[in-house]
Amino acid sequence: MNSAPAPTEGAAGLGNGGGVPRRVPKHVAIIMDGNGRWATQRGLPRVAGHRAGAEAVRRSLQAAADHGVKVLTLYAFSSENWRRSTEEISDLTALMRIYLERELKTLQKEGVRLRLIGDHSAFGGELAKRLDKAVEQTADNDRLTLVVALSYGSRAEIAAAARRLATRAVAGEIDPATIDEAAVGAGLQTADLPELDLLIRTSGEVRLSNFLLWQAAYAELLFVDTLWPDFDEQSFADALEIYAARERRFGGR
Ligand code: FPP
Repeated sequence: MNSAPAPTEGAAGLGNGGGVPRRVPKHVAIIMDGNGRWATQRGLPRVAGHRAGAEAVRRSLQAAADHGVKVLTLYAFSSENWRRSTEEISDLTALMRIYLERELKTLQKEGVRLRLIGDHSAFGGELAKRLDKAVEQTADNDRLTLVVALSYGSRAEIAAAARRLATRAVAGEIDPATIDEAAVGAGLQTADLPELDLLIRTSGEVRLSNFLLWQAAYAELLFVDTLWPDFDEQSFADALEIYAARERRFGGR
């Protein structure tokens, strides 16, 4: 990645409009969809789509850093994705291992902190260990946080937060009457991250598919037809332009 000057704090960067300040989202999340269709359209096996999808990950990470986005959260593997064929799961696992091996140095060099949500231990031994190590090694980086959702499901995340609160209430540590939105939010895996500003889904599907349901409460939603492997720096910039043009009222007037 290069080191183009990043707008500060995701608040107002310079747009293309000759120095007119524009809002840059601090936290962008992407449902990367369409790898399979991209491959099918070319008569290629699905794994070729995932491979091309991994290149698109690299491009979006670069674009996010260049535009001054502070957090990029990617839905890499949902808890429902375990229903895919064992062949596809092992292809995806292998791809993630290769990506990690190849990109770790770049993440370090570019000041990217890796974070995980979901349950990466579900991928077992070697990959889980490598992921833990990469999280540890990049923990002090602060230019951009890359959050990868692995074996992630939003309902399970919310249920786990509720369970922990219930356990504490039963133990007499907290009064159930004090459990509010902040308490639930604090129990989510994203608790220490900035609010989600923009959620993008590629490939023309218009669903959240159990991704960041709580966190997306006030996020701008953007559904684009582009298949994920075709999503490039320009697509990312276009998404930020659309975001900047929208008016966010958070329920107010
Ligand atoms: C959705 O396309 C994509 C996935 C389930 C996997 C996303 C994985 C990557 C982009 C590869 C590597 C990831 C990282 C973080 C390096 P789909 O297969 O559901 O596409 P389809 O709906 O067209 O079949």
